[in-house]
Amino acid sequence: MYAALRSIGAYVPKNVLTNADLEKMVDTSDEWITKRTGIKTRYIADEDESTSDLGVQAALKAIERADIDKNKIDMIICATISPDYFCMPSTACMIAKKLEIANVPAFDISAACSGFIYALASAKAFIEANMAKNVLVIGAEKLSSIVDFTDRTTCILFGDGAGAAIVSATNDKNEAIIDINIAADGKYYDYLITPGCGTNKPCSEEVLKERACFIKMKGNETFKVAVKTLTNDVVEILEKNSIESQDIDHFIPHQANYRILNAVANALKLTPEQVVMTVSKYGNTSSASIPMAMNEIYEEGKLGYGDLLLLDAFGGGFTWGSALVPFAGKPLDK
Ligand code: UT7
Repeated sequence: MYAALRSIGAYVPKNVLTNADLEKMVDTSDEWITKRTGIKTRYIADEDESTSDLGVQAALKAIERADIDKNKIDMIICATISPDYFCMPSTACMIAKKLEIANVPAFDISAACSGFIYALASAKAFIEANMAKNVLVIGAEKLSSIVDFTDRTTCILFGDGAGAAIVSATNDKNEAIIDINIAADGKYYDYLITPGCGTNKPCSEEVLKERACFIKMKGNETFKVAVKTLTNDVVEILEKNSIESQDIDHFIPHQANYRILNAVANALKLTPEQVVMTVSKYGNTSSASIPMAMNEIYEEGKLGYGDLLLLDAFGGGFTWGSALVPFAGKPLDK
C-alpha cells in the first residue's frame, strides 16, 4: 500500500495587518520589512477564532476537493505550535469535534515550521503500515496569540492561517508520495523558543512580566542555519531518489523570508517559475505555510494531477524536513 496526496485546501482569516499598521505599533518601516523579509501583509484571526476554527475551514475544503465522505476519514493529524488549549485537549481533537468525526485517532504534532512535513510523514507511515486509509493532515496556526506585538524583531514576521490535505491509500505507485525526510537537532533549542509557561518555567507573574510566553528568536543565527539546512536537505532527497531539480514542477519551501527562499532556489538552480513564493502576502504562518502555498497555486489553476512537488521546511527545535510528492488530486472546478 502507498500513500497519495489527494487534495489541498486552505483558510486565510479576514483581518489584514500591513507594514503600515506595524509602523504605528513598533519602531519599524515598510522599507526595512520589505527589504529584509519580503513581507508586505499577514492575516490575523478574530479574537474568538481559535486555531481549530482555522483548521476546520481548511479541512472542509480539502475534504470537498478530495470528494470523500468525511466518515471515511480514519485519522486526523494536526501540526501546530499554537494549540487551542495548553496541554489538552489537542487541536486535532477540537477539529474532529467540530467536523463531527468521532472514534478515530486524532493527535497533534509539535515540530514548529516543519510540522506539516512531519504530519505528512506520519500519515504516509500509518497508511503504508495499513493502520489508516484516509488521513486528514492539517497545519494550522494562530500565531498572533503567541507573538509579542511590542517586539519589532518578531512581530513583523508572523501571521495566522491554515492548510489541510487528504492523504489516502493507493495501489498505484505512480501517484504515491515518493519520499519524505524529517530530522531535528535539539542543540539549537533556544534559537527559536517560547521560554515561559511550559514546565521549564511555569506561568507566573514574573513570566508574564518578562513576556516570556511569546516567541523569541535569534533571527540572524537562525537565518544562517536555515539556508544551509534547507539547501542540504533538498539536495540529499533529490540525489537519493535520482531526481534532478529541473524535474520539479513546483518547489514549495516554508515561507519564512524571501531571502532564504531565493538563496535555496539559487543553490538548486531552480527557475522563478518553479518556486512558489507567498511570503509577501501571508508572512510566516509556521506549520500552515507549506499547505497554504500549495493551495495558492492550486486555486490559481497551476497545480495539476501528476505535478511533482518538492516540499522543504525548517523551524524551531531545530526541526527540518523535505518531501517529494506527486500531486494526486483533481484540478479545481471553476
Ligand atoms: O520560520 C522558522 C525559521 N525562521 C527563519 O528562518 C527566520 C530567520 N531570520 C530572518 O528571517 C532574519 O534574520 C530577520 C528578518 C528576522 C532579521 O533580518 P536580519 O537581516 O537577520 O537582521 P538582524 O537581526 O541582523 O538585524 C539588523 C538590524 C538590527 O539593528 P542593529 O543592531 O544593526 O542596529 C536590528 O535591531 O535591524 C534591526 N531590526 C529592525 N529594524 C527595523 C530588527 N528588526 C527590525 C525591524 N525594523 N522590524
